[in-house]
Amino acid sequence: MRHPDIITETPSPAPETPATSRRALLRGLGLASVGVAALATGCSKGEAVAAPATAAPVAPVVDKSVAIMGANESPFGPSKKAIAAMIEKASLTARYADAEGEELKKQIAAIEGVDPQQIFLANGSTPILAAFGEIIAARGKGQLVTSIATYEGVPRSVLEYGAELVTVPLTSDFGIDLDAMAKKISKKTTATYVCNPNNPTGNMVDPVKLRAFAIEASKTAPCFIDEAYLHLCDDFNANVMTSLVREGHNVVIGRTFSKIYGMAGQRLGYGIAQPELAMKMAMATRMGGINHLGIIAAMASLSDAEFVPAMQPKFKAGRERLHKIATDLGRKVAGNPQASFVFFDVGMPNKEFADKMMAEGVRVVGRAWPGYENWTRICVGEDWEMDRCEAAMKKVLA
Ligand SMILES: Cc1ncc(COP(=O)(O)O)c(C=O)c1O
Repeated sequence: MRHPDIITETPSPAPETPATSRRALLRGLGLASVGVAALATGCSKGEAVAAPATAAPVAPVVDKSVAIMGANESPFGPSKKAIAAMIEKASLTARYADAEGEELKKQIAAIEGVDPQQIFLANGSTPILAAFGEIIAARGKGQLVTSIATYEGVPRSVLEYGAELVTVPLTSDFGIDLDAMAKKISKKTTATYVCNPNNPTGNMVDPVKLRAFAIEASKTAPCFIDEAYLHLCDDFNANVMTSLVREGHNVVIGRTFSKIYGMAGQRLGYGIAQPELAMKMAMATRMGGINHLGIIAAMASLSDAEFVPAMQPKFKAGRERLHKIATDLGRKVAGNPQASFVFFDVGMPNKEFADKMMAEGVRVVGRAWPGYENWTRICVGEDWEMDRCEAAMKKVLA
């Protein structure tokens, strides 16, 4: 299944050649002069190359010909500890990651206060959403109840497996209408899906209401709460729903290292569910094994207590800046975005706006959400990307 956020109709920038991208990578890692030979030739477990003495940079090295603000990746990059761990342990990737995967599950379980049997890993959370869709499609007899617009991972999978998709529109203030969703649940329903914060709006549902909805809905069928962006919101603790799993409800929590942890290209996601469903999901998503380097980076990221608190204000400042740029230009913005992006009305077909922005060197999402054909979603970038985006929006939306 392709990642919905990389399905874009706008042209991609010319890729760097292997030679230039390798130079750029080494430059970025501060390794242009240290340890390169060791990295290139590989080394055994006991001889793992030491992390560079100078701290690796946080921001990824990118081609500045295009500001990439369409796929909700982190412009700030992974934790320095994750980068150092990946470099130090790269040689371990000769082996499958079964033992390390068990370690990571224990680490996550300790953080979330659940049993390791309730954790399942996957190469990003896209395979989790796809597998969940397949399972609840129940060979074409199932039914998913969700909202529209929301993230397409589960809805698309359910449709691919021939099951029924029941959607309710967003509320007038761009929230997920949990009351309307509750009314649609019937004996036919095999799952519900709530994305919180929601993609593409970035809005959140009231945690008290979400809790009540999930408890009720999960009496009929599993309720999937996609928390891909939850660490970015103003109050993680008030909104996190893992307690529902701890209390024994048939709730599945989806998480990813692609967003706040800055590991979109490394591919590591996880889910939290009741043991039986967690086992089923693990079998469905494993596909021959989990990304070893991703597990190494994930473990280091979770051990880096300073990383998430350091990233949160950066994303907040970025989304607030995007919100201001859009509202200053008289655009209608969807509610109170709490993730890494802002969704707003551009007053022209989404594709036309994307093409005009691309001409200014800014890539925004090149597809529209049903019912929001004149809206776009722009995600937080590095400072130079934000500056370029602001200038481009002023020109395109003038
Ligand atoms: C809400 C949501 N869930 C899940 C994903 C999947 O991300 P990944 O496969 O990189 O973990 C995305 C990607 O943008 C998303 O927006």
